[in-house]
Amino acid sequence: MIGTPPRQGASRRGFLGAAAGTLGGAMLAGTAGATPPPLMHGPGLATEPFHGAHQSGITTPAQRHVYFVAFDIVTDKRSDVQDLLRRWSEDAARLTAGLPLAGADSADQAPVDSNEAAGLGPQRLTLTIGFGAGLFARDGVDRFGLAARRPEALIDLPRFNGDQLLPEKTGGDLCVQACADNAQVAMHAARHLARVGYGVVQPRWAQAGFGAGAKPGETPRNLMGFKDGTMNPDPRDPGAMAHHVWVGDEGGWMKGGSYLVARPIRIALEHWDRMKLGFQEQVVGRHKASGAPLGGMHEFEPMKLDATDADGNFIIPENSHARLGAPEINDGAQILRRAYSYDNGLAHIAERWPPWRQGMFMDAGLLFLAWQRDPRSGFVKIFENMAKFDMMNQFVTHIGSGLFACPPGARPGGFVGETLFAA
Ligand code: HEM
Repeated sequence: MIGTPPRQGASRRGFLGAAAGTLGGAMLAGTAGATPPPLMHGPGLATEPFHGAHQSGITTPAQRHVYFVAFDIVTDKRSDVQDLLRRWSEDAARLTAGLPLAGADSADQAPVDSNEAAGLGPQRLTLTIGFGAGLFARDGVDRFGLAARRPEALIDLPRFNGDQLLPEKTGGDLCVQACADNAQVAMHAARHLARVGYGVVQPRWAQAGFGAGAKPGETPRNLMGFKDGTMNPDPRDPGAMAHHVWVGDEGGWMKGGSYLVARPIRIALEHWDRMKLGFQEQVVGRHKASGAPLGGMHEFEPMKLDATDADGNFIIPENSHARLGAPEINDGAQILRRAYSYDNGLAHIAERWPPWRQGMFMDAGLLFLAWQRDPRSGFVKIFENMAKFDMMNQFVTHIGSGLFACPPGARPGGFVGETLFAA
């Protein structure tokens, strides 16, 4: 039940569980009645707007960290979902502005704020909310009377060549992308939204990520060591965004929104790190140090896809990643990639045959996050070919996947998803 957000009472206490019960007494007694301290005195004072025509976190210059969570909806009441989206929007507006959450602490309730981000400042936090297919119908059941409003573009993604999707990293009825220049601020915000959603949503999968250029505005490098994000459409160009990223009149309640493809992609770093530099560059189609297209000098110079060497072979190989992603060979398709690297430590490998092999590998890769006006002419169009022919596929495995319809931004006093629930 979300009608009364779980700021107080049994449900939130239940969620926080024994911690609040056992540790709580003495600490809470000291803070009874206190209002959480304002967050505005930390170093990271810069803010990004929460309200607006579009949600932030899409064309916003990439922050250094992401915490992405996909949720299952565990209620069958439409009003619960709507109330949660309202609550998320209210709290997101405060968190992104660096304001304290509404409410006052008292000794007999769990604290209003879990508090680990106190004093860190807003850190350009953005919270971007999306809807998976399960919000509209799950197993053919129209749980919330929304089935008829499922956008055509919110397809079930096809199974791509090489996909090894794990159920525990795939799908989700709702998602939240929290981005900030500080990892703790991003995680705190995502954790807070999960916490207030107790009884309505349950986290299904989550992934933290990081990435930064050496200087602000510089293209960050992924774990393969290459600059990643060079050939994006320009987020500062409204025309390009209207064409490639924002849903237009065709989208009904989604107008002004965007579709997010979220895929954790594991990279076999041990394998990659043993490849010769020249081969690595052939795989990507770009020079490693400069990010320039093969045969070029500068990162942002156009790729000469027709250029050949003395033997008549393409300088940017036919099966290189950058060539296969280029708009010229994808009927002009472009997506806005806003990916982050991830590192989950080590994982165990046990291969039975052939040959017997056991050991540990780095559980790390890329949390691929790509925004587009329509995934059918965006991600699917580009990735269908890539999944079959890309030389990079020897080193990367898609282990999870989600497609989310991320509605337009909220107006002050409104909530993300209002256009969907309005009718
Ligand atoms: C672990 C997985 C991946 C890695 C490490 C990776 C890395 C890169 C790198 C280094 C570039 C060249 C620099 C740039 O233009 O940003 C690039 C370009 C690109 N990648 Fe990926 N990528 C991955 C997955 C994907 C996937 C799944 C897609 C799906 C559509 C994709 C689409 C593109 C596109 C469209 C370009 C730009 C091509 C162009 O216009 O020149 N990438 N990627």
